[in-house]
Amino acid sequence: MDLPELLELGEKERNNYKPIRVHCCTSTGCRAANSLGVKKNLEGAVKELGMSDRIQVVGVGCMGFCGNGPLVEIDPQDKLYERVEPDQAASIIDSLNGGTTTAQEGDFKHPFFSRQKRIVRETSGKIDPERIEEYIAAGGYQSLYKVIHDMTPAQVVEEISKSGLRGRGGAGYPTGLKWATVAKMPPGQKYVVCNGDEGDPGAFMDRSVLESDPHRVLEGMAIAAYAVGASEGFIYVRAEYPLAIERLEIAIKQAKKLGILGSQIFDSPFDFKVSIRIGAG
Ligand code: FES
Repeated sequence: MDLPELLELGEKERNNYKPIRVHCCTSTGCRAANSLGVKKNLEGAVKELGMSDRIQVVGVGCMGFCGNGPLVEIDPQDKLYERVEPDQAASIIDSLNGGTTTAQEGDFKHPFFSRQKRIVRETSGKIDPERIEEYIAAGGYQSLYKVIHDMTPAQVVEEISKSGLRGRGGAGYPTGLKWATVAKMPPGQKYVVCNGDEGDPGAFMDRSVLESDPHRVLEGMAIAAYAVGASEGFIYVRAEYPLAIERLEIAIKQAKKLGILGSQIFDSPFDFKVSIRIGAG
């Protein structure tokens, strides 16, 4: 795959988007409150009301406000519904056709949302994490392409160092320094290890990213691998995160199929394969 093909795939996907996208969170928190039942009824209502030509229901990743789930967002109207029950789903769809809904309205101006600047989770809750096409439509994998074709590994390390990016695990270790250290090791087999085991009690940020935007994690790992000279990567995930594991497996398979992981990525000499290791629980 080359850049024009990548861009074309993204554009084709965006052109297929319906004017209204009803985002229904299908990550673990909302699933526990029956968001899959909500999604099923939203889809049924769209069909029943004959609105399939202008409305699509999309199962998305975590929107962050899990305690008020199941969450449903109407895009592009910036409307949010909280604690949605399956039997309220039809009225939400009806409200897009002039009707009214009994669902509880949320507010994106709530400080929980308005005080955030999303970077890592910029597309979480906006795209279907089980479709690589949606990630590509949102600009995904363009950075990897650019890095492989327009930059040397040393330039990537320098760029990351200049960015000031640091680890978020507590020590705040500078990422550029970490990558530079691995890059200058003698040639030989090197690995990129992504720790998604999240051993700290009560922390769910790794799970949230892996469930909501697995391709973002894979793209970051591939960029790191190119920068340090690694050809193999491992993602270590908690056994208690079955949905994260499932979505990662789907994402790896999809990326391999498009030539974005594996051998000669984007028709370059760069090889990188990724596999999952599951924690002991
Ligand atoms: S799991 Fe649905 S908002 Fe977090």
